[in-house]
Amino acid sequence: MVFAAAPRDASRQGSQAEGSPPVAADLPPADLPAAIAELRRQRKAVILAHYYQDDAIQDVADFIGDSLELARKAASTDAEVIVFCGVHFMAETAKILNPGKTVLLPDLEAGCSLADACPAEAFAAFRAEHPDHIAVSYINCSAAVKANSDLICTSSNAVDLVRQLPADRPILFGPDENLGRWVQAQSGRALTLWPGSCQVHVAFSEQALLKLKLEHPTAEVLAHPECQQHLLDLADFIGSTSKLLHRAELSPADSFIVLTEPGILHQMRLKVPDKAFFEVPGTDGCSCNACPYMRLNTLEKLWRCLDQMAPEIVMEEPLRLRALAPIEKMLALSR
Ligand code: 13P
Ligand code: SF4
Repeated sequence: MVFAAAPRDASRQGSQAEGSPPVAADLPPADLPAAIAELRRQRKAVILAHYYQDDAIQDVADFIGDSLELARKAASTDAEVIVFCGVHFMAETAKILNPGKTVLLPDLEAGCSLADACPAEAFAAFRAEHPDHIAVSYINCSAAVKANSDLICTSSNAVDLVRQLPADRPILFGPDENLGRWVQAQSGRALTLWPGSCQVHVAFSEQALLKLKLEHPTAEVLAHPECQQHLLDLADFIGSTSKLLHRAELSPADSFIVLTEPGILHQMRLKVPDKAFFEVPGTDGCSCNACPYMRLNTLEKLWRCLDQMAPEIVMEEPLRLRALAPIEKMLALSR
């Protein structure tokens, strides 16, 4: 896999003499949302954003969703340019589904601790040790790991997809062991787990959660399945970010303690403004409940990437084709 910044837009090349001070167009405009809207129109672009993005990015996005919804949207868009406000594996998935489109990621450093915890060579060795197993990989992994998987899943469809696999075949699941344990319990299928985890979802403080429960005894606890088991045991409802949002809308409860990245609270508060939402801090009160990778994207970087048409995700075609097959299988099996 190769990813690189594309050259600056030809229409902007030469607009600035070598060594001269930055021209006004290189400085961020005062009204970033308006400038982004204009560039989106000019570029025939669509802006996709995950719920963990900053509020300001969510507010200018064309579509906000969880990983499955964003993959579906990327597969169906007729825009010429996809700006993916999320992390690298998400933008990569959009590119795998859209080889002919330009896919931009505002900050190429926006990675993921789960993807990092599963290098392709080590995953290949893991597969080789279990040749008879079906390899199910969480979408939070690199294109190279996807290319060596039989089926991709997200947190929203993992249980349903695993239930659909032949009962007589053993299953490998990676790279999130916490999600894997939850899928195992829900599906009743034994899974051989890759030992990876999300640095954000393992950081929540149980002590802080118990304190919040005491302070708000009628609040429902909503948790993402990337959380550790001892926290999931304290949850009233477990699901992907979209499922947590829908639960907040449909539940009779008037307040919620939310065990996932706090970016989701923006849509929760917009969708149900009369309900109260509380985020859970990390251990020792740290703000490590916010994903440091997701938060690398900013409104200014979004404007700049539309302006310069970079950084762009590019991928070698043989790798793309191998990674496409298990993603297409996921989209076909998802109900
Ligand atoms: P979902 O989008 O499936 O809820 O997953 C959350 C996540 O951690 C994405 O990186
Ligand atoms: Fe990866 Fe966790 Fe950040 Fe999601 S929240 S992108 S799983 S590090």
